[in-house]
Amino acid sequence: MIVGLSADGTYLSSDINAVSRVATEFVTLEDHEIVRIISGKYTILSYGKEVNKVSEKITSEFQTAHKGDYETFTEKEIHEIPEVFRNAFTGRLNFETQTITNETLDALSDQEIDRIEIIASGSSYFAGMVGTSWFKEIAGIPADVRISSEFLYDTFLPSKKTLYIFMSQSGETADVRESLKMVKEKGCLTFGIVNVVGSTIARMCDMGLYTHSGVEVGVASTKNIIGQLSVLILMAISLGLKRELQMKDARELIRHLGELPEKFQKQLNNKHLLAPIIEKYSAFTNFFFLGRNLLYGTAQECSLKLKELTYIHAECYSSGELKHGPLALINSKMPSVVLNLKGVLREKTNSNIKEIKARNGIVLGVVTEGEQHQKDLYDDVIEVPTCHPLLSPFFPVTPLWLVAVGIAKKLGRDIDKPQNLAKSVTVE
Ligand code: M6R
Repeated sequence: MIVGLSADGTYLSSDINAVSRVATEFVTLEDHEIVRIISGKYTILSYGKEVNKVSEKITSEFQTAHKGDYETFTEKEIHEIPEVFRNAFTGRLNFETQTITNETLDALSDQEIDRIEIIASGSSYFAGMVGTSWFKEIAGIPADVRISSEFLYDTFLPSKKTLYIFMSQSGETADVRESLKMVKEKGCLTFGIVNVVGSTIARMCDMGLYTHSGVEVGVASTKNIIGQLSVLILMAISLGLKRELQMKDARELIRHLGELPEKFQKQLNNKHLLAPIIEKYSAFTNFFFLGRNLLYGTAQECSLKLKELTYIHAECYSSGELKHGPLALINSKMPSVVLNLKGVLREKTNSNIKEIKARNGIVLGVVTEGEQHQKDLYDDVIEVPTCHPLLSPFFPVTPLWLVAVGIAKKLGRDIDKPQNLAKSVTVE
């Protein structure tokens, strides 16, 4: 909770963004603090005693949040993705020497860690799913991701050799914050991956890296997920180099990371190609999203974005799970969006697609560009640039988020503020 201050008024909010256009300074409230506002003057009390707190300036970054040439913040934020990559890597990756240069990552590599748990909610949780695959595959460290509201009430078995990563765009999500408190009380090592600088979770963690994605105004998270994935893969490479990851493999990955801003810009420049897909698929009221392995978390994320932005029912399954029940729902009225890129169990997913087609299902494939023989499997395809297989979770998001935005526009939805949702979920 923060108190926003200006010559014209005093404001209360859970998020600096919300008051950035009316306040010039803010004060952060800690646990058990109460603010009393009388005739525009505020006093902060802790257990009944007045406390003096120094206010901080609201930086120009918050004050300049505007839509620019875009109709909505959400679209603007999706178009900022190339910049998000650059911000996440600046001062952390040296693309010339293909090395990681960061004090926090160096310090983290010196810790004795034999397991990683990522704790998060919503889109941050889905980014965490991808992160666990990277920690296992790149760094060789067992890793798991937990929904914060489940983790908080599950039996907690603390381990001093586990790194607990708390991931949150806002840095204020209640379930994540309370989970962090619980882990800290047991003296375990906590690491924050947060966007909002100075937020509660960022301040509470022992160590951390900001995503530096810039202000995210749209209630549906977009660009910050890219920032989270960027930080997670950097951590995986850095931790991996202290283990079995070969320098030549790390360099190869870093070289591919360096190509991401340009490849994403190309995807954004080609957004007009999505128009027929938006037109056709806006007619449906139920969707499946399918992906497996590295693409499962991305499929979950894209399914959530379609739900949030369009209010259309969408469910996500691991493609391999389809035949264990959900297949019963397949018919010509329920399209499946299948994430199926080169190098991520594609042959297995191809069989899943054939099962759908045999039941008259419609399949929209997200595929690697230029593979004509693959296209025949689908009713429609969205092509994404070729990439290192380990980086494939990045690529389907931009076109699928833009499709969700396009459908939401056609249906007249409030894209920046979907019904019933809040940007920061500060209550359990
Ligand atoms: O600020 P956080 O990353 O902790 O927020 C977590 C979720 O509330 C958030 O990702 C939510 O699911 C978004 N609406 C997703 O677009």
